[in-house]
Amino acid sequence: MSIILSRAETLSLLSLSIACSGVLASTFKGDGEPLIASLAFSGIAFACTYCLIQWLGPSFIHAGLKGRDMSKSRKPEIPETMGAVCAVVYLLILIFFIPFPFYKDIVAATSGGGSRDVTVSHEQLASGRVLHRFPHSKLASYLSALLSLQSVVILGIADDLFDIRWRHKLFIPAVASIPMLVVYLVDYGVTNVVVPVQLERYFGTMIDLGWVYYAYMAAVAIFCPNSINILAGINGIEVSQSLVIAVLLLMNDGLSLYAAPAAPYPHPATDPHLFSIYLLLPFIAVSLALWWHNWYPAKVFVGDTYCYFAGMVFAIVGILGHFSKTLLLTFIPQIVNFLYSAPQLFRIVPCPRHRLPRFNSRTGLMEPSVTTWHRPPGKILTAVLKVLASLPIPLLAIKKDDRGNVISSTNLTVLNLWLVWFGPQREDKLATGIIGAQFLVGIVALFTRHKLALLVFREDNRQ
Ligand code: UD1
Ligand code: MG
Repeated sequence: MSIILSRAETLSLLSLSIACSGVLASTFKGDGEPLIASLAFSGIAFACTYCLIQWLGPSFIHAGLKGRDMSKSRKPEIPETMGAVCAVVYLLILIFFIPFPFYKDIVAATSGGGSRDVTVSHEQLASGRVLHRFPHSKLASYLSALLSLQSVVILGIADDLFDIRWRHKLFIPAVASIPMLVVYLVDYGVTNVVVPVQLERYFGTMIDLGWVYYAYMAAVAIFCPNSINILAGINGIEVSQSLVIAVLLLMNDGLSLYAAPAAPYPHPATDPHLFSIYLLLPFIAVSLALWWHNWYPAKVFVGDTYCYFAGMVFAIVGILGHFSKTLLLTFIPQIVNFLYSAPQLFRIVPCPRHRLPRFNSRTGLMEPSVTTWHRPPGKILTAVLKVLASLPIPLLAIKKDDRGNVISSTNLTVLNLWLVWFGPQREDKLATGIIGAQFLVGIVALFTRHKLALLVFREDNRQ
């Protein structure tokens, strides 16, 4: 990968940055319109990430942050952990963005011209304090999101550097989510969930889940990053799936904002969805810049840092935006991949270090990779494996020796399953197929959720 930007790249990135800076400057003249500012910041974030990924490749390799692309004939060594570049640019942009959503409140609190010594009310005289009307709780949510993201990025980089063991890294996001959960506890503390109409007779309209709700949120925070990390191993798949999830969530936010009643009394669902958009727009920008370099044939790898970072952005958006169940609807392929992987993750079936599809250098195509059974599986497991392999739509493929013992079975990931179903194919075609299916499933799930919500609940929050 050349570290020099081409003339076309330089010109387009430069003009994008200049245009976005102009837009940013003009938002200050108006009302400090945060949505426009967020878009402009995202443009700048894209340009910065694009350049940095291009420039930093050799330094990453020099520092040992590199990996072999196992699905190419010459197995080239390319920079890894480029997700760290995305994450750092993203965090800086979120920090620069802080004044914008609070612009109006800052102006109001400082009485417009920055002078705080306006009229002193009776209460002020009595208490001796000037209490401005400032949405501190929103700022706290925002800062806790930043803190959780920073923690997960630090831990993700540590994982890329030291290859932390699976059972340990499972809990990295749980630790990182503590700041966010604490703010949730203090600010909202709502652990009630709405009961479906059909069950109201037994539980009433609301049920308080208490600490179980916190355990559930921590589980979401553990699940999102790790599920992206195990649906991985072919060029572009980690970033593309994250982009699809982000776009689906953005569509869901757009839909909610569009349907919400207009000012002067904004619907309570407005703020969380705006919060979600402010987090998602720059995320999409930095991810697009990474996607450019990571799509087939990859010039860089994203590293576990990216998977943790992306998953945590989604967990934060879902939890602090109060739509964690809708969030899970955009994760259906990852949930399916996790459930399908469970026998290997819990060591019922042998789990090799890498389960990515196997590259056949003779044909140049990807084939399902297999795990070898050094000791043949027990009787029950053998029967289960044989049944699964002989279904009309097989759920895996096995190899048997002369005596009928299973000697190998395909690794349990949806990437391999796709290859079992549709046969060997080129790496980019496999990625496109999986991503296309993910987008379709996501759209159908969101559509169904908003259409069918009224069958199960008294109201859909979109109405
Ligand atoms: C997870 C998966 C593992 C999969 C790996 C691939 C589980 C339990 N773990 O492990 O099965 O093999 O991700 O990312 O499901 N690589 C490529 N081409 C790519 C992407 C990655 O060859 O397009 C290889 C590179 O050698 C790279 C390595 O995978 O260095 C990265 O693996 P890493 O992210 O460390 O693996 P895990 O996340 O531990
Ligand atoms: Mg990984």
